[in-house]
Amino acid sequence: MSPQPAAHFIHDFRQAAPYIQYLRGKTVVLAISSQVLLAERLPTLVQDIQLLASLGMRLVLVHGTRHYLDRMLQQSGSELRYHQGRRITDAAALALVKQACGLVRFDIEAALSATPSQTPDRRNPRLRIASGNFLLAKPLGVLDGVDMQHTGSIRRVDHEAIRQRLNEGDVVLVSPLGQSLSGKSFNLGLDEVAAALALSLQADKLIFLSSEAGVTDAEQRIISELTSAEATELLARGHYSSDMTRMLKTAIHVVENGVRRAHILSGMADGSLLAELFTRHGHGTMLAQAPFMRIRAADHRDIGDIIRLIEPLEAAGVLLPRSREYLEAHIGTFSVLEHDCHVYGCVALKHFADSSSAELACLAVSPDARDSGFGEYLLEYVISQARQQGAHTLFALSTHTGEWFDERGFQAASLDELPPERQQQYRANKRASKIYKLAL
Ligand code: ACO
Repeated sequence: MSPQPAAHFIHDFRQAAPYIQYLRGKTVVLAISSQVLLAERLPTLVQDIQLLASLGMRLVLVHGTRHYLDRMLQQSGSELRYHQGRRITDAAALALVKQACGLVRFDIEAALSATPSQTPDRRNPRLRIASGNFLLAKPLGVLDGVDMQHTGSIRRVDHEAIRQRLNEGDVVLVSPLGQSLSGKSFNLGLDEVAAALALSLQADKLIFLSSEAGVTDAEQRIISELTSAEATELLARGHYSSDMTRMLKTAIHVVENGVRRAHILSGMADGSLLAELFTRHGHGTMLAQAPFMRIRAADHRDIGDIIRLIEPLEAAGVLLPRSREYLEAHIGTFSVLEHDCHVYGCVALKHFADSSSAELACLAVSPDARDSGFGEYLLEYVISQARQQGAHTLFALSTHTGEWFDERGFQAASLDELPPERQQQYRANKRASKIYKLAL
C-alpha cells in the first residue's frame, strides 16, 4: 500500500489554492520596518518575498531606516530632535540617513539576489530589483517656528516608472528618501512613503511588517479583521504604541482611498507573511473599508464554486445530487456567502405555487470555514428573504443535519404538511429525509 500523503500539508495547500490564484498579478506594497531588518529577519523574509514574486505578485518594497539611524546617531553622540512626531533632519543627520539607506538597500538587494535553495533548477534567472528616483519630495518647511531642515514630504510618486519596472517582472525597492526638483535629498517617513506608493499605484494591498504582531483588543488578543470604521473607533481609545498608531492611521487612510486591503503583522515571526496571505484566518490584522463577509444572490459565475462546495456532500449522500444543468436553470434561487472575495458557503430558497411556504435547500459551508457562524448567517439570510416574500413557513429536508436545524428552532413536520408538489418529489427521490419546519 502506498503511504498516505501528509494530511496537514494537503489540507493547507488546498486552502491556499484560491488565494494563490487570486493574488497572481496583484500589486502589493510591503513596508518593512527597520526593526525587522535589524533583528536579522532578512534571510527568511526574503525567501518568502521570492516565493510571492514567483507566484506572480507585483511587489514594491519600501524599507525603514529609523532604528539604524537611532543607532548611528547615538554612536556619533548626536542629539535627536523631534517636532510634531517628526525627526528634524539637520545636515549631519541627512548624511547618516543616506548611509543607513545605502546599508539597508545593499543588504536587501544582496539577500534578494540569492537563488532560493529550494529551487530545483538553480539556473533559474535571479530576481531583478529596480530602484530609482521614484519619489519627488519637497521640504516640510518651518512648522510652528521650527525649521524641519532636510525632513521632507512627498510631492509626487513617479508611478508610471514603477509600473514599467513591475510590468517587466522586476521587484521595485524604494528607500524613504526623496529628491527635490532643485536636486536636494529629503528624509521621508516610512508610513508616508508606503501610503503614497500604495495610493498612486492603486495597489491591491499595503502590508506593514513590523515588530508588532497586529492590532489588539482590550484583552491583548490580535484582531484578525477590522473595517476602517472599527479601526477608527479603536484608535480613538488610544492605547496603542506610537508605531502602531501611525501604521493604523496609514492603513485606515489607504483603505478609505481605494487600496483594497491593508495588513499589519509581525515581521519577526517566521512565515507570518505567507500565513497572512494564504490562510483564511491570517496571522496579523487585515483592514478593509467594508465588512469582509457578505451574502449575495448567486449568478452564473458562481456555479463552479457551488459545485466545489456541494459535490463531496452529494457523494456522501448529505445533499441531493444537482447537475450543472440544474444549477444553471435554478441559479436565481441560490445565494452565496463570500468572505474576502472567496465563496465559502451557499444556500437555495425554493418557492412553491402556494406562496405561504418556502424551502431552504442545499445549505453548505466549506469544511475549512465551518464553526465560524457562516451556516447561521446563511440561515438568517434565507429566513429574512422568505419573510420578505410573504412566506409563513420555512421547510428544510435533511438526512444528516436534522439536529442542526432542531437547535435553531425548527420542528419536526410530517409529509402532508409539505406543499403537494413537494410531496410528489419527496416520494419520487426515495431519500426519506426528515422534514423540519420553522414558523416565520
Ligand atoms: N448536526 C448538528 N450540529 C452540527 C452539524 C450537524 N450535522 N454540523 C455542524 N453542527 C454544529 C457544529 O458542531 C457547531 O456547533 P457548536 O457551535 O456547538 O460548536 C455548529 O453547528 C456550527 O454552526 P455554524 O458555525 O453556524 O455553522 P457552519 O458554518 O459550520 O455550517 C453546516 C453548518 C451548513 C451544517 C455545515 O456544517 C455544513 O456544510 N455541513 C455539511 C452540509 C449539510 O449538512 N448541509 C445541510 C443539508 S440539509 C439542507 O440543506 C436543507
